[in-house]
Amino acid sequence: MSEHQLVLLDAIEKGHTSIVLKLLRNHISLDFGDAYGRTPFMIAAKYGRNDIMKLLLEHPQSKEVRVDRGGKSALHYAAESSQLPIVKMLSKRQPASLTMLTNKTKLTPLDYALGADDVYPSLHKYSEGGEVSGGDTDDEDDKPMPGAYVKPKKKKGSGKKKGGKNKLLFINMTGRLPACVIDNGTGYTKLGYAGNNEPHFIIPSAIAVRERPGGSRIGQSGEDLDFFIGDEAFGAKGYSVKYPIRHGIVEDWDLMEKYWEHCLFKYLRCDPEDHYFLLTEPPLNTPENREYTAEIMFELFNVPGLYIALQATLALYASWIASDVKNMLTGLVVDSGDGVTHVVPVADGYLIGSSIKHIPISGRDITYFVQSLLREREPTIPPEQSLETAKAIKERYCYVCPDIAKEFSKYDEDPRKNYLQYTGTNSVTKKTFNVDVGHERFLGPEIFFSPEFSNPEYNTSLSKLIDDIIQDCPVDVRRKLYGNIVLSGGSTMFKGFDKRLKRDVQRLVDARLRESEELSKHKPEPIDVKVVAHAMQRYAVWFGGSLAASTPNFYEVCHTRKEYEEKGPSICRYNAVFNLV
Ligand SMILES: Nc1ncnc2c1ncn2[C@@H]1O[C@H](COP(=O)(O)OP(=O)(O)OP(=O)(O)O)[C@@H](O)[C@H]1O
Ligand SMILES: [Mg+2]
Repeated sequence: MSEHQLVLLDAIEKGHTSIVLKLLRNHISLDFGDAYGRTPFMIAAKYGRNDIMKLLLEHPQSKEVRVDRGGKSALHYAAESSQLPIVKMLSKRQPASLTMLTNKTKLTPLDYALGADDVYPSLHKYSEGGEVSGGDTDDEDDKPMPGAYVKPKKKKGSGKKKGGKNKLLFINMTGRLPACVIDNGTGYTKLGYAGNNEPHFIIPSAIAVRERPGGSRIGQSGEDLDFFIGDEAFGAKGYSVKYPIRHGIVEDWDLMEKYWEHCLFKYLRCDPEDHYFLLTEPPLNTPENREYTAEIMFELFNVPGLYIALQATLALYASWIASDVKNMLTGLVVDSGDGVTHVVPVADGYLIGSSIKHIPISGRDITYFVQSLLREREPTIPPEQSLETAKAIKERYCYVCPDIAKEFSKYDEDPRKNYLQYTGTNSVTKKTFNVDVGHERFLGPEIFFSPEFSNPEYNTSLSKLIDDIIQDCPVDVRRKLYGNIVLSGGSTMFKGFDKRLKRDVQRLVDARLRESEELSKHKPEPIDVKVVAHAMQRYAVWFGGSLAASTPNFYEVCHTRKEYEEKGPSICRYNAVFNLV
């Protein structure tokens, strides 16, 4: 869905008629649906937006009747939520046969209206005027579908007309809607539905709240919905922008709760009671944090099932998309995002917990470093835009070079070939400004390999750390780990990152093998270092979650609401490992 379509659905839901009018005047097409296939007409029907429905019905596309993924039309929605004026509006403009249009669970709008004193007679009257279509559900042999609905049998001679007589009684749902997969990162949250290749939304993990003098937040008690998340958080005047997650770990649960609320209702637009949830956590997350997550998910959002998956394991699953992966459940994951870089060994699907390490270098550090290099040289950048400029330059122009000394001389020999220009717009004056981008192109990501450039107190390169960690693992998995170093996260996206990492780790390994040969006088079997880069690397954790949550095994390992109600949040301290292969 485009941003405009999203705004339109949101405006309809909230009843913002002027926004809808504006979008319609700008000729927005109404021929689209959200993740459930719900069109603007259905949202207007569901929320009883009478004025908006009138506007929509004047649109030429209103003549085409669409159904959502469950086979429900706008009339189903209107009948379901007893919106009499909308039922009447639709009845006037659409064929009477629509009252008997069956959805995937064989329910018609008339069925949905049963029990509604005003809507039912109106719909019934309307249905009598036209032909009745769709399967006659009065068949005596019709057995109730397991979990669908039970239809009381018709008494002979009851004499009622077709269409209005079937009393239906819900037991529960058949089948399941796709699980919601949410990867909350320090910088970005990736959210969408299991089974998809990409998240539906990637939004900053930022929330804008109003603050009262003295530090207390408006809306802290949860009664206030006055906050924004994602990109909207940055445009909100009079609000202060916060990040509830630091270095991959949730630090402000009050804000996190609000953030999730908008993720579910404003972005995914789902009813959390209908979906199982897969959330992610970094290595070394605390069991208490898992309990807080479970409390919010089960008690506030009433989800039917929850699984909190380790980001590293999901990133390993995601690497299966690479064509030449041999080891599916054993590998060393290098997950580098905005706030943290973790190096995590996984053997047969289990984390080797004692060997997990993180380095104090991640995307945000590279941005700060690029910012500091530019600050010294480029006075045209407006100070309040220097961070976002540095970030844009980093993502667009930075790369990892094989040899930093050679790279410097390349730039000195032919600056024109290597210097690039970035053009930004001053947010106040709206005038453009130009920035020459030079050495920072390769110096920025170089701090993964020479961290002392930005932090004099830390000098272990990423390659050395990887080698140390593998050497720390049990001897029988070391070779497999060297052969499957898997990349994940936005900060591994620099061009040349995988090649440099492979070369540097291979050099360390070869040097050790040479040393051992000299000592033992035996030629050891060579070790091949392999670094796996793949198409889903940027959202590897989310994509791995999407794969995992679309397998039947997911529902077996999930904690259910029933279990939560019986035993409490402590059940989520531990999450069973998937059997995905
Ligand atoms: N093409 C790119 N090249 C380099 N860096 C990039 C690119 N695209 C995004 N990034 C950087 O990746 C980081 C975000 O990555 P990601 O979404 O994996 O992090 P996160 O999950 O929010 O954080 P974390 O995993 O550390 O908690 C940001 O610093 C962003 O600037
Ligand atoms: Mg992440």
